[in-house]
Amino acid sequence: MVDVVQFIGPVLTSESMTIKVAINGYGTIGKRVADAVAAQDDMTIIGVTKTRPSFGCDLAVRKGYPLFCTFDEPSKIQAFADAGYACGGGITDLLSQCDVVIDCSPGKAGAANLERYKAAGVKWIFQGGEKHATTGMSYTSCANHTENLNAEGTRVVSCNTTGLSRTLVPLLEACGSLKVECTMIRRAADPGDSKKGPINAITPVLKVPSHHGPDVMTVRPEIDITSLAVAVPTTIMHMHAIVATLPDGHGMTTESVLNLWRQQPRVIIMNGGETGITSTAEVMEFARDIGRTWGDLHEIFVWEDGVKLEDNTLWYFQAIHQESDVVPENVDAVRALMGTEDDWKVSVNKTDAAIAAFNGLA
Ligand SMILES: NC(=O)c1ccc[n+]([C@@H]2O[C@H](COP(=O)([O-])OP(=O)(O)OC[C@H]3O[C@@H](n4cnc5c(N)ncnc54)[C@H](OP(=O)(O)O)[C@@H]3O)[C@@H](O)[C@H]2O)c1
Repeated sequence: MVDVVQFIGPVLTSESMTIKVAINGYGTIGKRVADAVAAQDDMTIIGVTKTRPSFGCDLAVRKGYPLFCTFDEPSKIQAFADAGYACGGGITDLLSQCDVVIDCSPGKAGAANLERYKAAGVKWIFQGGEKHATTGMSYTSCANHTENLNAEGTRVVSCNTTGLSRTLVPLLEACGSLKVECTMIRRAADPGDSKKGPINAITPVLKVPSHHGPDVMTVRPEIDITSLAVAVPTTIMHMHAIVATLPDGHGMTTESVLNLWRQQPRVIIMNGGETGITSTAEVMEFARDIGRTWGDLHEIFVWEDGVKLEDNTLWYFQAIHQESDVVPENVDAVRALMGTEDDWKVSVNKTDAAIAAFNGLA
C-alpha cells in the first residue's frame, strides 16, 4: 500500500479521504460500475450522468447517486428538473468534484470526452469500445496493474479481452511464451438492447483476423494471438473456443493447467458432465442463483471437461458474461491510477469482497 500519492490533480493520503469517482454514462456498464464503486470503502460515487431524463434516472435516484447531465447546455440540465429529477448540473460541474471519471458512454463516443477530462485535471478510465490509441494505455487487473500505477488515464479492455487475459496471462507466466488462435462466438446484443441483430443468422466478422484476440496484446504484448469472430442470435454470453500452443518443454499437464486457473481470481472451473451446466443458458442460471445484482457473473466460466492438453496443444472453451466481467476491473483500475494499491491481487480481493458484501453475500 502506498501512503501518499502525488499525481496531476488532487493529492490523496490513504487515511484522509476516499477516492471521488464520477460515472459518465449510466447504461449497461455504467450502472454496474457505479454499484461496484459504491461498494468499496475507499471510494465514493460523486455522481452519474444521463443525457436526458429517461428511465435509468429512477435507478440512480433509488440508489442515492447524485444525477448530473451529460452536457452543459442549461436547457438540457433544465429538462431534468422539468421531469421532476434533482440534477446537480452539467458534466463540468461533476468533473469539478471528482478525482477520477469512469467513462461508460457508448463505444467510440468516449474519445470525444478526453479533452474535457484533461482540461478538468481529473484522471479518466475508458471502456473497451474505445481504441487503445486514444489512451495509449490499457488495463486488465491480472495483466498489467503495475504498468498503470499513477497513470493519467487508461482503458479497461473489452469483455472479450478481459476474459482472454484471465486464462492466458497465468498460462503465459507459467510457460514463458504462448501462441494462441481463438474463435469468438459473440452474443448479438445485450438483453436490454432492442436495436441490434442478427436474430436469425450467424454473421462472420469478415475483417480477418478480428481485432478481439490481438487486443490482448495491448495489455500483454508477449502473447502471440489471432482471432476469428462470429455473431450469433443470443443475448446472454459470449463463448470462446481457444487453441493455444505451449512452448517445447512446458512441463504442463491438463490437470496442472486446470489447477493454475483454479488459483486465478475471477475464473470459475466447473465440470459440465457432473453439474449439468453444459451451455451458456445453465451458466447464466447458475449466475442468477449466486445472487449478484442483475444475475451478473464477474468470473470467466471454463468447462473442466472441455480442457485438453496434448503435446504442445491446449484446447478449451470459456464463457464470458459480457455485461459484467469488466465491472470489478474498473474498480481495480481506479486504485491503479490513484496509486493507492500496487498489488493487483490485493486490489482484486478487496474489490470482490466488498461487492459480495454489497450484495449481501459476504
Ligand atoms: N455492454 C457490453 O456488453 C459491454 C461489455 C464490455 C465493455 N463495453 C463497453 O462499455 C462502454 C459502454 O457500453 P454500454 O453497453 O454500457 O452502453 P449503453 O448501454 O448504450 O450505455 C451508454 C450510456 O451512456 C449514455 N451516453 C450517450 N452518449 C453519451 C456521451 N456522449 N457521454 C456520456 N454518456 C453518454 C447513454 O445514454 P442515456 O444517458 O441517454 O441513457 C447510456 O446511458 C462501451 O465502450 C462498450 O464498448 C460494453
